[in-house]
Amino acid sequence: MAPSLRNMCFGSRGQLLVFLLYFSYVVSGQIRYSIPEEMKKGSIIGNVAQDLGLDLKRLRLGRARIVTGESVQYTELKTDKGILVVSERIDREQLCGDTTPCALHFQIIMENPIEFYRVTIEITDINDNSPYFQRDSIKFEISESALIGAKFVLERAFDSDIGVNGLQSYTLNPTDNFSLKLHIQEDGSKKVEMVLQKPLDREKHEQLYLVLTAVDGGDPKMSGTVQIHVTVLDVNDNAPVFTKDVYKASLVENSLRGTLLTTVSANDIDQGLNGLVTYSISSSKVGILDLFQVDENNGKVRLIGKVDYETAKYYQIDIEAKDQGGLSDSSKLVVDIVDVNDNNPLIDMMSISKSVPENSPAQTIIAVMSVHDPDSDINGVVNCVLGENIPFTIQSTSNGFYSLVTDSELDREKASEYNISVTCSDEGVPSLSSSVTLTIQVSDVNDNAPVFERISYEAYIIENNTPGLSIFTVKATDADWNQNARVSYILEDSSINGVQVSSYVSVSADSGVIHALRSFDYEQIKDFQFRVKAQDGGSPPLSSNVTVKIMIQDQNDNAPQVLYPVHTSSSLVAEIVPRSADVGYLVTKVVAVDVDSGQNAWLSYKMQKTTERALFEVGLQNGEIRTIRQVTDKDAVKQRLTVVVEDNGQPSRSATVNVNVAVADSFPEVLSEFTDFTHEKEYNDNLTFYLVLALAVVSFLFITCLVVIISVKIYRWRQSRILYHSNLPVIPYYPPRYADTLGTGTLQRVYNYEVCRTTDSRKSDCKFSRPELFSGIKSENSIFKRDYCMLFL
Ligand SMILES: *[C@@H]1O[C@H](CO)[C@@H](O)[C@H](O)[C@H]1NC(C)=O
Ligand SMILES: *[C@@H]1O[C@H](CO)[C@@H](O)[C@H](O)[C@H]1NC(C)=O
Repeated sequence: MAPSLRNMCFGSRGQLLVFLLYFSYVVSGQIRYSIPEEMKKGSIIGNVAQDLGLDLKRLRLGRARIVTGESVQYTELKTDKGILVVSERIDREQLCGDTTPCALHFQIIMENPIEFYRVTIEITDINDNSPYFQRDSIKFEISESALIGAKFVLERAFDSDIGVNGLQSYTLNPTDNFSLKLHIQEDGSKKVEMVLQKPLDREKHEQLYLVLTAVDGGDPKMSGTVQIHVTVLDVNDNAPVFTKDVYKASLVENSLRGTLLTTVSANDIDQGLNGLVTYSISSSKVGILDLFQVDENNGKVRLIGKVDYETAKYYQIDIEAKDQGGLSDSSKLVVDIVDVNDNNPLIDMMSISKSVPENSPAQTIIAVMSVHDPDSDINGVVNCVLGENIPFTIQSTSNGFYSLVTDSELDREKASEYNISVTCSDEGVPSLSSSVTLTIQVSDVNDNAPVFERISYEAYIIENNTPGLSIFTVKATDADWNQNARVSYILEDSSINGVQVSSYVSVSADSGVIHALRSFDYEQIKDFQFRVKAQDGGSPPLSSNVTVKIMIQDQNDNAPQVLYPVHTSSSLVAEIVPRSADVGYLVTKVVAVDVDSGQNAWLSYKMQKTTERALFEVGLQNGEIRTIRQVTDKDAVKQRLTVVVEDNGQPSRSATVNVNVAVADSFPEVLSEFTDFTHEKEYNDNLTFYLVLALAVVSFLFITCLVVIISVKIYRWRQSRILYHSNLPVIPYYPPRYADTLGTGTLQRVYNYEVCRTTDSRKSDCKFSRPELFSGIKSENSIFKRDYCMLFL
């Protein structure tokens, strides 16, 4: 082709050479051109006239024309210029397809003479077509479990161009998972395959987009592409995975059934059923399945039983998650049980003393107990307290042990029994508590002496009692118990007037009854006292004593005794009343005593019998005999009065006395009257005695007075010498007995009388008592003494 083109271009310059060349064609009557396809219309293909060696004239005249068997006239012969031009678009691919070489064949015919020439125009290929695929995209669905090396046939591309302009190669992009493999087939075409080089992972890339490019060999190269869309199909290649290795939850004990603990969760990145996770408890530990439940669909763990902190403080639950393909994962749920103050403290008495002696020192241990609370922390911290106002305390020893000890000394006599309530409470909120009550007996110790009901006793007994009479009862009580409180009474030894008290009274040891052992005479002993001891039965025994005073009560067992006027057989006493005496003239005074006392000695005087009626009367109380009217001449000289002295006892006792009264103006008158008067009257035996006694007393009084006066004189003289400058009054000393004697009253006289009666010491006692008697009388009436003395003279 090249030489012919060069020919055409250089034809005018080297005519000979062209001729020689074309000659051979002429000989064969044909020419041959070669042009590329797709030349513009009018493009010159070749100079036919020149190449065929024909004259333009000949062409014109010969009416040269192109004869072709085809419908489309691609070329046109310009006869005026003798050139062949393109008249229609020439597409090699349309004209020849894959056939090579591709050429147009026609004849140029001339007339006059008819000549024809064969013309062949070879159409050469240009790269005007790019490779192409029949589809825009190719879809694959490949399981992610596809093995390496798996092949997937791809669509091949087409290129209308031929030769080097035809399809040359393929490329695949990206090549992460797949590589391209070409097989040259028998017809020379290529089979394109995609080979899996790296496993697919749906979980990473579910959709893969690749581009297959087909490239031809033209210059420039042209290409066509097709999209490859790979959908990776899921395989259960992923197990579920828990979100945590260990789940933690805390649960308050005694929570209600159905309480949600936590939600466990596992993810499975697989799809569909392969990713559908169900949960279960796989723990094999006994009891777990009765307590907890996991919802198999949503992983919520709930309580279905009852949890008690005191039984288990935590639980470990193994939980399994499984997908439908059978892959699984496991995790743990650790449930901490939170304590609730649901247990009362437990009080366990380890030892108790049932009783404690009352003299036990403080801190004596009564009981030991252990206190325990199964709750934890402050819910299990226990404090114990005792009830109020009891002499005990509670002491915490160690480790939940408490001892109950006495706080102070006990006194059985105040409280013989204690109910000690021990209350132990924990520190939870709200606090729980338990309590126990111990009953402790306080045992007796002999710490109390018997105590008499009174500080001292006074008892009365009427004289002349029968021996053996019970006077009264002393009683002592002992606050102790039983034997320690058993009181016995003992009479303590003492003497009364030199006589053992035990001969007066006795005391019954058991009952404390005091008996008189003899008959008492009030006039002999008015009272006496002794001590009674009360002693308990303790060891050692305790005792106390009490003074008992027995007062003997008077009985009217003595009649009054008239002391004055005294009648003896040998003497006659008469009172002299002058006839001139006024009304109310005191004649005499009857003096009587009664050794009894009180009412029994309260004397009253009555006139029983008088010679002259209504001349004298006797004072009811004082025994004074007075005139009640003027004495007249008619009244006899001799008057005889009988006075009854009566005491006030029940029954009363009495004595009578005769009083002789002489109504006269002179002593001789009296004497003459009384000579026979004396014989008339009764002889009184006692009178002599009294007269002698009176005389002796008067004498004695006189001597005593003298002695006293002299003594006092001497004493004063000596005192004035000693107390030379002193003006101190000098007080004479009188024995106490004398000092008392001025008091009036029956008792005083009785006492005096009594002393006189003491037979052994009559004289000496009378020496002291007589003056008292007379001074007493004297104080009452001085007239009496005057008359009395007169009579003796
Ligand atoms: C102690 O309790 C007992 C029984 O409850 C009761 O009989 C007794 O009187 C109580 N003692 C005291 C001192 O409260
Ligand atoms: C009698 O009791 C008193 C105290 O009350 C005591 O001083 C005295 O010693 C006791 N007498 C006897 C004999 O026990």
